[in-house]
Amino acid sequence: MIGGRVAKQRPGTRTEPGSDLSAARLAALLKVSSSIASSLDLTVVLQTAIDAAVEVLQLDTGAFYLLDDRSLFLGATTPPLPADMPAELRYAALGDHPHIRDAVETGVVVQVHDAPSAALTAQERMVVEARGLRSVLYVPLMHEDAAVGVLIVGTQTAERRFAEEDIALCWLLSTQIALAVVNARLHESVLRANAEITRINAHLEALVAERTEDLASANEELRSQAEELQCQAAELEETADSLTASNEARARFLRAVNHELRSPLGTIIGASDLLAGGHAGELSADQLRQAEMIGAAARHLLALAESVLDLSRIDAGVLDLAAETIDAVALAAACADAASASAAAKGLVLVRELPDTTLLVTSDPVRLRQILTNLLDNAVKYTASGTITLEVAEARQGTVTFSVRDTGPGIPEREAEAVFQEFYRRPDHRSVAAGAGLGLAIARGLAQALGGGLTVRSVEGGGCTFTLTLPAGR
Ligand SMILES: Nc1ncnc2c1ncn2[C@@H]1O[C@H](COP(=O)(O)OP(=O)(O)O)[C@@H](O)[C@H]1O
Ligand SMILES: [Mg+2]
Repeated sequence: MIGGRVAKQRPGTRTEPGSDLSAARLAALLKVSSSIASSLDLTVVLQTAIDAAVEVLQLDTGAFYLLDDRSLFLGATTPPLPADMPAELRYAALGDHPHIRDAVETGVVVQVHDAPSAALTAQERMVVEARGLRSVLYVPLMHEDAAVGVLIVGTQTAERRFAEEDIALCWLLSTQIALAVVNARLHESVLRANAEITRINAHLEALVAERTEDLASANEELRSQAEELQCQAAELEETADSLTASNEARARFLRAVNHELRSPLGTIIGASDLLAGGHAGELSADQLRQAEMIGAAARHLLALAESVLDLSRIDAGVLDLAAETIDAVALAAACADAASASAAAKGLVLVRELPDTTLLVTSDPVRLRQILTNLLDNAVKYTASGTITLEVAEARQGTVTFSVRDTGPGIPEREAEAVFQEFYRRPDHRSVAAGAGLGLAIARGLAQALGGGLTVRSVEGGGCTFTLTLPAGR
């Protein structure tokens, strides 16, 4: 392929670079050097260098090809390529150009004396013909033992043997250009890295802005929550204040009912009993009736005072309850016995449905009796005729139930809960019997305080059943 017309040469072995450079050649080298120093644009540098090389060597044509992996790219050429030149003159595969490949792979200068008669590949021949080449010099652009491209110069018609000094000049030029190419590539990668950094910075800035906005809105939310909490705290404080005030008022009221009402009533009852009993002297029938009226009124007031005190204690949760093991059957029987007289007085039949065994509950006997008495009293009070039944039974889930059933007027379903409210009395009952409407409220409050409950089931006109449920004793 190379034959007699092709020679390879490593410069600098015999020729010291620059030693036999003429003034014109030095000027050309300087021109290229200053172009490299003043321009970062590789295209400008390459063009200046190829123009200078061709001119000073008095050649017809020249080109720089840059190597990227195994591909060649045209960097600059003189004379310029006509517009209709084939693309192969701009890009080529290294493998298709053995002369160039030899130069860049071995790092030596390759000469072809007479290209038209040399052994060339089709691609090489195409270039030779397109550019009308005759004698060609291929000089690798070496940088640190690797070629970054190739400088090609040549004649178009006359055959030329390149002198040592021609080759030395080309070599000097090519090493300078190699450095410029490496620098330009470095510069390019720095620019790319800068662009990447700028892009990342912008992205980071956007992220920071986004987070800042998130934080700001989170802060705003926290602030309004804190405000809300402050408001709630202030409200709670107010409520606590008013609760304290109402607790104090309740305590004052309880003391007043206790001392100013209950105690004097006790004295009045005692005194009226003494009078009625004739202990203060013989009374006329009229005087006796009046003494008894005073006693009855005082007892009524005392009962009312007791009720009010009970309600207040239930409300305040300050009931003092015993927890005794009681036989529910025996206690219920005693309550029935106590109610039997008033039932009989109204012609009512009192039925006891009590089991034969004992049924134990752990409870407060006084309060339990109070509840049952209350229910029995109501039954007697509101039932005109018929039967009142007291039933005690062991219910499911460890409970004992006490039921008071009557054949009275019953309670309409919509009022089933109302009867447990304080001071509630059914309108048509107000004329039937005296009362303050506190009995059931107290009874339910006590039942709940004892760990149980009190409910009513009724059909209007068909009597009603009040059921007290208490936990069974152990
Ligand atoms: N066994 C009953 N049958 C019908 N109505 C009743 C019965 N027990 C209570 N009530 C109704 O429930 C109301 C509230 O009862 P209670 O709280 O004991 O108050 P009081 O007996 O003082 O009226 C009574 O006024 C009455 O209207
Ligand atoms: Mg009552």
